[in-house]
Amino acid sequence: MAAASLDQSWSFRFSLLMASILAISCKSSAAFQPSVWQLAHATFYGDETASETMGGACGYGNLFATGYGTETVALSSTLFNNGYACGTCYQIKCFQSQWCYGSVPYITVTATNLCPPNWSQDSNAGGWCNPPRTHFDMSKPAFMKVADWKAGIIPVMYRRVPCQRAGGLQFSFQGNGYWLLVYVMNVGGAGDIAQMWVKGSKTDWISMSHNWGASYQAFAALGGQSLSFRLISYSTRETIIAWDVAPANWNVGLTYKANVNFH
Ligand SMILES: *[C@@H]1O[C@H](CO)[C@@H](O)[C@H](O)[C@H]1NC(C)=O
Repeated sequence: MAAASLDQSWSFRFSLLMASILAISCKSSAAFQPSVWQLAHATFYGDETASETMGGACGYGNLFATGYGTETVALSSTLFNNGYACGTCYQIKCFQSQWCYGSVPYITVTATNLCPPNWSQDSNAGGWCNPPRTHFDMSKPAFMKVADWKAGIIPVMYRRVPCQRAGGLQFSFQGNGYWLLVYVMNVGGAGDIAQMWVKGSKTDWISMSHNWGASYQAFAALGGQSLSFRLISYSTRETIIAWDVAPANWNVGLTYKANVNFH
């Protein structure tokens, strides 16, 4: 009897151990899953060159230089979430409109801008981005892949999807010797950031505060030190550490590439 219960107890402990190992490995590999398809509407802004989409409210600057290209979208403030939705990715398909192109089932776009409310227009007649509407103001080239631009506005089905990014996270530096402002770009997986920290080679981890769009800041003297970053995904809560992203002679105005990314 004693031997049997001992065995049971060991096998019980072993299953607990296996369960925790499984839980830990699942947590660290929690890839972002697509959401369900939902109904919304889409318009477009700018022209075929997409020049008006540059310098948007996420702070990505020139979208050709930073790799986002023309397949981008401005989100209504309900979706934009004060900038925390910067970098998130969506599949958008034109839905039951005479203007839909059947040949392209959907387009995948990245959120790079805010579509601000315009309270002098009714939410159902021009004020498409007014809260609480979920609305996509696409670049004109992106819109033109799913529908005739003459439509102006189309009903769409959309879903959040993982962002497919080539290469690692990118950190674009602004600020000065005592204030580091970092724009995080090329974020894979859920594409969004909840929180981040910076660590100089001579400091501990320093919490950074959200500034605007996809930028985070630290008020600290970090000059002459190599810099590492720790980030938490907004949607999956996954943590990632990008060690020694910038060398000790880092400078503002430059973009540093990590060899890690969310998935
Ligand atoms: C808001 O809507 C009004 C009325 O249509 C228009 O005149 C104005 O230019 C719009 N404002 C912005 C910032 O687009």
